[in-house]
Amino acid sequence: MIVTLDGPAGAGKSSAARALAERLGWCHLDTGAMYRTVALVALERGVPLDDAPRLAALTERIAIEFRDGRVLADGRDVSAEIRTERVTQATRFVADAPPVREAMKRIQRRLARDVDVVTEGRDQGTEVFPHAEVKVFLTASPEERARRRHREEADRGTASNLESVRRALVARDEGDRSRPVGAMRPAADAVVLDTDGLSRDEVVDRLAALVTARRPECRVP
Ligand code: DC
Repeated sequence: MIVTLDGPAGAGKSSAARALAERLGWCHLDTGAMYRTVALVALERGVPLDDAPRLAALTERIAIEFRDGRVLADGRDVSAEIRTERVTQATRFVADAPPVREAMKRIQRRLARDVDVVTEGRDQGTEVFPHAEVKVFLTASPEERARRRHREEADRGTASNLESVRRALVARDEGDRSRPVGAMRPAADAVVLDTDGLSRDEVVDRLAALVTARRPECRVP
């Protein structure tokens, strides 16, 4: 079974997807981390960020694995490096390249073959898994998302300014929404869940209820 979680940065997708997958004992596919990993390796190897065919070839060659909550690229743990500002900036170019998105679609479908998975990103319910049994689009107001991101950064020991975090999020939303291929939007059959004012556990409860409604045997204690 496939559950897709799409939505803008800071809506709480990652923590909700991770917690839901854990509760159900399913795989968690963080597709943002996959785009970030390609961006990191492209920067390291000097692949120009406007060379879409080379970026796509690189995407096909890197073995990306998720293991114990870590992201591995060709066996190397890149979990921390892919979250740096430099990589976040570069990822936009990678995610905008249609041949990279085609390659990612193939890879993501392969990773989800024959397993139960909670997959998160921007285009999972629309482009990659249009036949997913449960599709959710998580949203939250820009203010709430900025507050959460700001708090996460503080927890990581990175100083940031709330207003500049908000502005950066809104700019990223615009880029994600206006991408010609794989643009962020709710699938026609997605449940839109506004997470403003909801705790992470409340979000996960609602997601788990959607899964249970589709598949009663997935009920978890
Ligand atoms: O969710 P995130 O912040 O880790 O995503 C990193 C970037 O990748 C972000 O700019 C959106 C993009 N992305 C995408 O275009 N499609 C996906 N399925 C996942 C992420």
